[in-house]
Amino acid sequence: MVATNQITTLEILENQVSQCTKCALCATRTQVVFGVGDESANLMFIGEAPGRQEDLQGEPFVGRSGKLLDRLVKEEIGLDRSKIYIANIVKCRPPNNRNPSSVEIENCIGYLKGQIANVQPKVIVGLGNYAVQSLLGTDKGISKLRGELYEFENIKLVPTFHPSYALRGGAQVVAQIRADLVVAKQLLNTLCQ
Ligand code: URA
Repeated sequence: MVATNQITTLEILENQVSQCTKCALCATRTQVVFGVGDESANLMFIGEAPGRQEDLQGEPFVGRSGKLLDRLVKEEIGLDRSKIYIANIVKCRPPNNRNPSSVEIENCIGYLKGQIANVQPKVIVGLGNYAVQSLLGTDKGISKLRGELYEFENIKLVPTFHPSYALRGGAQVVAQIRADLVVAKQLLNTLCQ
């Protein structure tokens, strides 16, 4: 049998996104930060937008907040980043790490929806205000949203704080993120038997 190098739909999407010029962030990015991990992962993490390290390395959550996220996911769920899928709402770095604008989010969220539709995770963990608000179409803050379970297109959605907030907020915020990750793990155990 002849081996074929099948191109996945995600790779086609990544190729499209790498050439995106829908908004002004294309002029200041080093590169698009598409997403990384297991393309058939049961668990997906969604953040806000790339920071400086992500923009340079082309991979989400590789800076300080990413290191914290990796550690918490390993300790609470027992998974390495290669076993989950990680992406952001916005694929290009907003200059000086400013918050993404609503226009940038609107332009970009279709790409994330394409990623979710392809990966088909059983559980999504939304990291911070921008991720969770954009997925749920709400302007409620993350402190009010976390602690409840939601759904995005029939996929369970667990909201939690952004790890960069934990870097500033200390042990109490870390403990809350840990508790939310335990909820995600329990859901995975139930849904992926
Ligand atoms: N913060 C995010 O929301 N995403 C990243 O990829 C890095 C930092």
